[in-house]
Amino acid sequence: MPRKVMVVIGSPRKRGNSSVLAKRVAAGAKAGGAKVETFSLHEMNIKPCTACDACRKNPKIDCVIQDDMRILYPKLKSADAIVIASPVYWFTVSAQTKLFMDRWYGLGGDEGYALAGKRFGIVLAYAGEDPFVSGAVNALRMFQDALRFIDAKIVGMVYGSAWKAGEVRKNKALMAEAYELGKKIALE
Ligand SMILES: Cc1cc2nc3c(=O)[nH]c(=O)nc-3n(C[C@H](O)[C@H](O)[C@H](O)COP(=O)(O)O)c2cc1C
Repeated sequence: MPRKVMVVIGSPRKRGNSSVLAKRVAAGAKAGGAKVETFSLHEMNIKPCTACDACRKNPKIDCVIQDDMRILYPKLKSADAIVIASPVYWFTVSAQTKLFMDRWYGLGGDEGYALAGKRFGIVLAYAGEDPFVSGAVNALRMFQDALRFIDAKIVGMVYGSAWKAGEVRKNKALMAEAYELGKKIALE
């Protein structure tokens, strides 16, 4: 059975830097024999968590909100690995990425999180050259803390500075790193 890799893009820019890098990760994963499915959060209807706790009161349901997380929950559960690609917006991940991750709350309960044991790849693009000043470090740390909390594993994080959409292509080393992360996700 080929590994199932879900790629989730949190930028509104279809040809933006995080999308370009995510496509390299996807290409690496495909080269490694994985089956890859990509989702663009910006094109989906994902509402904020309302903290109603229906997911905690009834463990059989993921979430009562009727939106496109209904598509993503089963995909998240069946994926072997999940790649999240986000731009840095205001010193952390984009709102699209944050809404999506908040809704993982619905996958938790007394027995832990349904994403426990899954392998993650993180992709991040930001304009400021210094990852500390740009806020990239905040976003990377958030991923580390959140994924540790749900008992998932980070396989690798690919991050770099670029401003205009697609500019990251010029950074050959980063493009190669993204491809290698994809292969690692598919093969390890
Ligand atoms: C609303 C908004 C907020 C941004 N905030 C930051 C920021 O806090 N730090 C930073 O380094 N770049 C910031 N940027 C720049 C983007 O992170 C940068 O252009 C990145 O390459 C965008 O990735 P994308 O092409 O995948 O969308 C911001 C851009 C926008 C549109």
